[in-house]
Amino acid sequence: MIYSPRLPRLATFEAWRDAARALASNDIPADDIEWALEGEEEGLFGGGAPLPVPREISVPSAFLPLAKLVCAHRAGGVHDLLYRVLLRCRGNARLLGNRADAEVQQLEAWAKNVRRDMHKMKAFVRFRDVTPHGANRRQFISWFEPDHRIEELIASFFTRRFGDMDWVIVTPEVTTRFAGGDVSHEAVASERLDLSDETEELWKTYYANIFNPARLKVKAMQSEMPKKYWKNLPEADLIPGLIAGAEARMRKMQEDAPTLPPIRAERILERLPTRDEAHDLHACARCPIGAQATQAVLGVGPLDSPLMIVGEQPGDREDLEGVPFVGPAGQLLDAIMSEAGLDRHAAYVTNAVKHFKFSPRGKRRIHQSPHRSEVEACRLWLEQEIALVQPAFILALGATAALALTGDGTALMARRGRVERGREGIPVLITLHPSAILRSDGPTALRELLKQDLAKAAKMQEEINTL
Ligand code: URA
Repeated sequence: MIYSPRLPRLATFEAWRDAARALASNDIPADDIEWALEGEEEGLFGGGAPLPVPREISVPSAFLPLAKLVCAHRAGGVHDLLYRVLLRCRGNARLLGNRADAEVQQLEAWAKNVRRDMHKMKAFVRFRDVTPHGANRRQFISWFEPDHRIEELIASFFTRRFGDMDWVIVTPEVTTRFAGGDVSHEAVASERLDLSDETEELWKTYYANIFNPARLKVKAMQSEMPKKYWKNLPEADLIPGLIAGAEARMRKMQEDAPTLPPIRAERILERLPTRDEAHDLHACARCPIGAQATQAVLGVGPLDSPLMIVGEQPGDREDLEGVPFVGPAGQLLDAIMSEAGLDRHAAYVTNAVKHFKFSPRGKRRIHQSPHRSEVEACRLWLEQEIALVQPAFILALGATAALALTGDGTALMARRGRVERGREGIPVLITLHPSAILRSDGPTALRELLKQDLAKAAKMQEEINTL
């Protein structure tokens, strides 16, 4: 008997999951199934046999997040291969951890394409203001052409990020509307929208301001912003001029500027030692913080560094840029590190908690310290970074980092300057967080303490290097 489940354009994953559950729980072999998307031509066997009654089946926890991504891929055969791997997972709960398995590798490669497409959409969607006179909520519209079927996967990012306005994102196949706090999708074919208006000028001003000549790497920039996206970007015609004037502007530049969220974080994520949840940092729901942040912020720096520096959590700037310690605390840390003889770029720098926790106050986002339970929930990611980098020692900046690394949440000042044994057995040098200096009335004494501890770290690093 042949089964031919038809999957709709919207909620494709949910439909695949329901059909796969019915089929797999009744031990239907993959060769007896012809998966098809609605709108595609019917296969040889027409509508096929009715699906059997589903029974309970269990799958490894990493399977469904992976399947959700893969279902959004446009390649032919994605649903079939997912089903084949689902059947194999039932007899081998560790299958997804086996990176040498050709079928798992293929699913991972598809998931990676989809994640990358989502990353591009986050970075390159541009909204145009279309608010009518007298409307009480601002209204925006955008056009985007994703490579894959990611509209539903990405919607929660835009609802979080642009929750204070109504908007529509139109793609060639799906229109997503966010109005009055509710999001909806409609599968409808659309032509490219021409959305030029004066908001373009605003975008251009914004882009010219955030363009950071000190970090100008034309190749990297082009791989981050492939030409195919340029036609929809109002700022694209500024790029050649900005590149040409970069040298002069760099001299004048006072402050580092935000950049697009880095694809680098994806690469680190892919290299983390295999753990089921490693697929899903960007959708991490182990604690509530991730739901309100722009993005998860992973570490930066050489993966073979003997020194790992761990802070608390990303702040406002880090949340927008996707890079740790680029805001005021990071700048202070850089300054004190260089006075103490430590090279920030030679260390792997990360945070105990990967998302920005804040409470909104007007237009500002006010930092909130993470709870102990949130630090514990996030340890999974920190542990994996530690396993990947295998530092010789770790510098814990502040109480949250000390707690995450040692499990000990007792007062920091009594411990600072000491080397404690971390949970992984790696020595942890405890010190202050640079924000404590920014917050304090008489910062000089605290600054001196941090500098002393950083000098101690420099010495420890030197000893390691001369071993
Ligand atoms: N504070 C931190 O602990 N980490 C950052 O990345 C930025 C500020």
